Amino acid sequence: MAKLKEKLQKKIENWRPRTTRLLKDYGTVKVDEVTIQQVIGGMRGVKSLTTDISYLDPYEGIRFRGYTIPECLEKLPKVPGGEMPYVEGHIYLLLTGEIPSQEDVQEVLEEFKGRRKVPSYVFDVLRALPEDSHPMAMFSAAVLAMQKESVYVKKYNEGISKMDFWDPTYEDAVNLLVRLPEIAAYIYRMKYRNNEIIAPDPSLDLGGNFAHMMGIGEPYDDVARLYFLLHSDHESGNVSAHTGHLIASALSDMYYAISGLINGLAGPLHGLANQEVLRWIQGVMDKMGGKTPSEEEMKKFVWDTLNSGQVIPGFGHAVLRKTDPRYKAQRDFCLKYLPDDPIFQYVDMLYKVVPPILKEHGKAKNPWPNVDAQSGVIQWYYGVKEYDFYTVLFGVGRAIGVAANIVWDRALGYPIERPKSLTTDMLEEIAGIKK
Ligand SMILES: CC(C)(COP(=O)(O)OP(=O)(O)OC[C@H]1O[C@@H](n2cnc3c(N)ncnc32)[C@H](O)[C@@H]1OP(=O)(O)O)[C@@H](O)C(=O)NCCC(=O)NCCS
Repeated sequence: MAKLKEKLQKKIENWRPRTTRLLKDYGTVKVDEVTIQQVIGGMRGVKSLTTDISYLDPYEGIRFRGYTIPECLEKLPKVPGGEMPYVEGHIYLLLTGEIPSQEDVQEVLEEFKGRRKVPSYVFDVLRALPEDSHPMAMFSAAVLAMQKESVYVKKYNEGISKMDFWDPTYEDAVNLLVRLPEIAAYIYRMKYRNNEIIAPDPSLDLGGNFAHMMGIGEPYDDVARLYFLLHSDHESGNVSAHTGHLIASALSDMYYAISGLINGLAGPLHGLANQEVLRWIQGVMDKMGGKTPSEEEMKKFVWDTLNSGQVIPGFGHAVLRKTDPRYKAQRDFCLKYLPDDPIFQYVDMLYKVVPPILKEHGKAKNPWPNVDAQSGVIQWYYGVKEYDFYTVLFGVGRAIGVAANIVWDRALGYPIERPKSLTTDMLEEIAGIKK
């Protein structure tokens, strides 16, 4: 058995009694109460999910397995010559809860490399889609097409014990995750680079290989590593993570679940916001005829957007109540590598002008920027200007966290998800409006 899986098995065996005890001895202890506002309002803030992969504090931001983003960037083993951690090491952390050593990462790299080959029919599927398909639709279709590869389905049909479901789920998770960068790069090169596909280089790590297949030189390999890490997980309640978890709760396999999460991520209020940010900024640039707007002019663009009933993309968050540390990590990267880039300067000006305006506007609970406000700028700078593609990058990252969650969902035997709904009549009765 591979060392990573062996370690995971031990962790699972040690963890199971905690979940069993909570359920058996403390199952009726109250965790939360639910208001009508929450029932109608998208279950905002209702404490009704559990995950140990990441936790989102409204003021501190995300912690992956207890580590903040700066701690992950500092502690996870780095690729020689680069500044960012191996994506493989981050996968190890999310699965096991432990920061791997360099040696652990090398072992994982070896294990993963043997699984990277994308079946050729996936490319046939991509080629069969209409040319103007959105890259997210292509990405989702490619993942779904691989469903027949599921080891879990095979084992399930053979009748393995429920206690062992996590094992083939782990196999599916790894097999799928290591193939996503090649599928993403293929979509990009086929759609936007004249179909000039660059073959993978098996000697490279996941991030390095992705940059290579995109045809972009250093430090884009570090950009890829940073992106996949930052977008990997944001606890369980966001649309993409929750969708993946929900689908898998029916014991649907990893391929169905990851394809589904990609569909949820494709919404403009979620992952697609990063392309919306670029589209919005380009709109401002066009109106300015290439000139950098003054602060006053920028404020007017922001107010015009709000007054026309639209949201300011890249700002606000359902949980966060401060600047997203994922925004900050990317801003630090921009300050180091592209401080004079005009789009970065636009984004930086927005950082200054939008929060006070959103406060004055009085609707958004969080006026601060989120991860999406900054991510498109870096891609644009390195030549990835086709912003329809940006959410695919988000998807490669998000799949890592969701896959790790699904492995643990099966390990801890989490059941099929089934909240209860009420009718409007019933809510009116509860509210005392109607007898
Ligand atoms: C992320 C987001 C969907 C969270 O939604 P939410 O939890 O409902 O946020 P809030 O509770 O703060 O929303 C309250 C109101 O403020 C508005 N609001 C929130 N963020 C806003 C923004 N960036 N610009 C304008 N209005 C905003 C909401 O649309 C809502 O208005 P309504 O009462 O007319 O429906 C929301 O902030 C948003 O649409 N942001 C822009 C898109 C984006 O960046 N998405 C990526 C998130 S990582």
